[in-house]
Amino acid sequence: MAPSPLLTPFTLADDLKLKNRMVLSPMTRGRTGDMQRPDKMTAQYYVQRASAGLMITEGTLISPVANGWVGAPEIYSKSATIAWKEVTDAVHAAGGLIFCQLWHCGRASHSSFHTKEGKAVAPSAIAIDEPTIHSPIGKVPHEVPAPMTVDQIKETVADFERAAANAKAAGFDGVEIHGANGYLIDSFLQTKTNKRTDEYGGESLENRFRFLKEVTEAVLKVWPASRVGVRLSPNGVYNDQVCLRGGGRGRGCSWGWAPCGGCSACIRKLPHFCST
Ligand SMILES: Cc1cc2nc3c(=O)[nH]c(=O)nc-3n(C[C@H](O)[C@H](O)[C@H](O)COP(=O)(O)O)c2cc1C
Repeated sequence: MAPSPLLTPFTLADDLKLKNRMVLSPMTRGRTGDMQRPDKMTAQYYVQRASAGLMITEGTLISPVANGWVGAPEIYSKSATIAWKEVTDAVHAAGGLIFCQLWHCGRASHSSFHTKEGKAVAPSAIAIDEPTIHSPIGKVPHEVPAPMTVDQIKETVADFERAAANAKAAGFDGVEIHGANGYLIDSFLQTKTNKRTDEYGGESLENRFRFLKEVTEAVLKVWPASRVGVRLSPNGVYNDQVCLRGGGRGRGCSWGWAPCGGCSACIRKLPHFCST
């Protein structure tokens, strides 16, 4: 009997051949504790899943102010980078491939996550319109984030580049830029959360895209394009974002449990990215 197509090899790029077509979605585990370092249990978790063709890690924070999830790991410090190397070594020994998802939570955060840096940052001073956020001090109301200065935007681009370099030093096979689910990059892309009047915002799509473009270019200084992914969720409603399509639970382009999330017209034109 012919093997299931799912189990046949797939060439993602000339230098990236997957042993099968299953890819582990990035999934926040919230298991690293206050230290935010991956540990033996993290390695065990990914080794248990290393028979997939490729794994994307849980969202991994690129800077202290990027943090907005209790127990999420980071990849900005030297010690976390060293700790991740133990995970990638274990995954490679098990025959797996693993990308690191680079994450900045943006306004989906709270000052109690980063008391030194203070408020969460975002393109504009617009709070998430939901009752509470789970923070290190318990469930608290969302705060109005601080709108980023252009200098802060440039520093954040540099943070993504440093995190990408750390991911390389940690032995990852590539990185995925988290541009989805209402976090920082997504909130630049979406009109609901980006009311800036400078070159990073407003009605102009080019302006709202500029931050993601600069982040991607910075990451591409470290990794070849074949090793860089960008995650988008144009119809995701998570973190108080807007569904472009309205109605009906969709597949493939958003969180599984989001009340809507079908493919938007533009994504429909990209058959590789859409299953509906
Ligand atoms: C527990 C959990 C944690 C998640 N964490 C992340 C994450 O860190 N980064 C991300 O891009 N997506 C995250 N997601 C979204 C998943 O990657 C995936 O898109 C979503 O579950 C929809 O796929 P499904 O319909 O197969 O469940 C998470 C989903 C779940 C259920």
